Amino acid sequence: MLFGDVSEELARRVAEALRHVTDIEPPAVLVRVSARSGVDYQCDLAMSLGKRLGKPPREIAADIALRLDVADLAEPPEIAGPGFLNFTLHSSWLEERTTALNGDPRLGAVATRRPRRIALDYSGPNAAKEMHAGHLRSTVIGDAIARLLRFAGHDVIPHNHLGDWGTPFGMLIEHLRDELPAGPYTIGDLNGFYRAARSKFETDEDFANRSRERVVLLQRGDEETLSSWRRMVDESTRHFTHVYELLGIGLSSEDVYGESFYNPFLAAVVDDLTAAGLTEISDGAVCVFPDGFRNREGGPLPLIVRKRDGGYGYAATDLATLRYWTGQRDVTDLLYVVGTPQAQHLAMVFAACRAAGWLREEHRAEHIGFGSVLGEDGRAMKTRAGESVRLSDLLAEAVAHAAGVLDGRGDLSPEVREEVAAAIGIGAVKYADLSGDRERDYVFSWERMLSKNGNTSVYLQYAHARIRSVLAKADQDLTGARVLLGHPAERALALALARFPEAIGAATAGYLPHKLCTYLYETAVVFSRFYEQCPVLDAEGPGVRDSRLLLAELTAKTLTLGLSLLGISAPARL
Ligand code: ARG
Repeated sequence: MLFGDVSEELARRVAEALRHVTDIEPPAVLVRVSARSGVDYQCDLAMSLGKRLGKPPREIAADIALRLDVADLAEPPEIAGPGFLNFTLHSSWLEERTTALNGDPRLGAVATRRPRRIALDYSGPNAAKEMHAGHLRSTVIGDAIARLLRFAGHDVIPHNHLGDWGTPFGMLIEHLRDELPAGPYTIGDLNGFYRAARSKFETDEDFANRSRERVVLLQRGDEETLSSWRRMVDESTRHFTHVYELLGIGLSSEDVYGESFYNPFLAAVVDDLTAAGLTEISDGAVCVFPDGFRNREGGPLPLIVRKRDGGYGYAATDLATLRYWTGQRDVTDLLYVVGTPQAQHLAMVFAACRAAGWLREEHRAEHIGFGSVLGEDGRAMKTRAGESVRLSDLLAEAVAHAAGVLDGRGDLSPEVREEVAAAIGIGAVKYADLSGDRERDYVFSWERMLSKNGNTSVYLQYAHARIRSVLAKADQDLTGARVLLGHPAERALALALARFPEAIGAATAGYLPHKLCTYLYETAVVFSRFYEQCPVLDAEGPGVRDSRLLLAELTAKTLTLGLSLLGISAPARL
């Protein structure tokens, strides 16, 4: 083995050896990176088998070690402590692996042999409302996951589930008819109309009823209603496209499958569910009660498919979505990058779709949840006026902050400075969002995200640019160069480079981009230690300078590729 995931390969070998030791059903074997010095990987399998095999784990470890064939990669495993198997890779193997990376644009990461076809639901802002900081997370995390899954070799279809249907539009259209404001409206106008309509809806019963009737007209395809609706959606889409461009997110209008898209399928959803005996009428509404969901009082929890007034809601659209993607688009996976507050909604939708047969054995439906963005006071991020922060303001501010960091850099032309400011500012916002465990809330802090130290994109971008400048100074053709690992800091760097596929694998399998962030940060730190301890341009000894330049170049490539999979650019000069 030369390319691919080393820990996975070691785990495969351990599993193979175990089959010679016992005929029990083998558990999943995990081999992890070891924190102990002199040890690269470790495996605690023997400890988990002690009870089942009725033997001291150290003995089991010894039995496994005896059968284990890793000679091509590593030293014979060592048995340590209560029964760990410790692995140390041959430095000569690491030299070969690192040298071979030079010609591999994937830096050792091997594409999947089982590609899946994935509809990835992310971003999903609501039309007639400005996109706010909360949609930032879905957009940024979703984009990174799309990039990771594509890199792994899967077929990813972005699915931008725009909130462009239902009650809000009934309200908005009625409001516009009442007030007759002169068009064209900007997204800011629409935002204002929405707020006014919402408060009328809550206080004025006649208006609320008219709004509900208007939704039904909309859902029935009334031409006048539709044209009013279309104007609002078009203006909103222009706004979203602008934000995606600022963010460098590759979502286009072709990726929009808004709630309205599913309108033609809603009646069939009710029919199918009813034919399958899954619906009940409750309070005049058509409901599904998926198994296993209870309200606070312990009663069954409904998923409302069609409301009493004949209108369809959010749940109906989501049911239609799954039915469409598995039925007409042949996807194997449906992934939803949506905030954790919607966990129960999605779980109920998935359960109902399983019951209806729209999700079958071969399909995977998963909610990729995430926490909220908080202000520095630890509460939901708000402007001073108490409104939620607009995403376009936030991004403009990010770029302005980054330009501040670059102030006084007369060596950069104004155009380059602008480009670099965008790379730093937008990168910082994205990285701050991606580098923490997505399930947790995170505190938005300009100071922290733009710091040149610590686990930030700015730190990684600087590390990358510094390496590029060393390489530019050397101006050397490295084709055919070989990696030599004479110094421990060189070996540590080669090992970090060999772990790229593991980091990618962990980030992709669990939809956890932060694992890639952590890896990139650790690699940059290992590089800086190497750079302190091992002269590069002034290296002495045959082949050493070339080897160190190659290590530096591979580090730069790893940072560039890793950041690009997070949707962040790495300028050559900062
Ligand atoms: N528009 C929704 C919101 O802002 C998000 C849509 C998520 N996707 C879905 N299929 N429900 O909360």
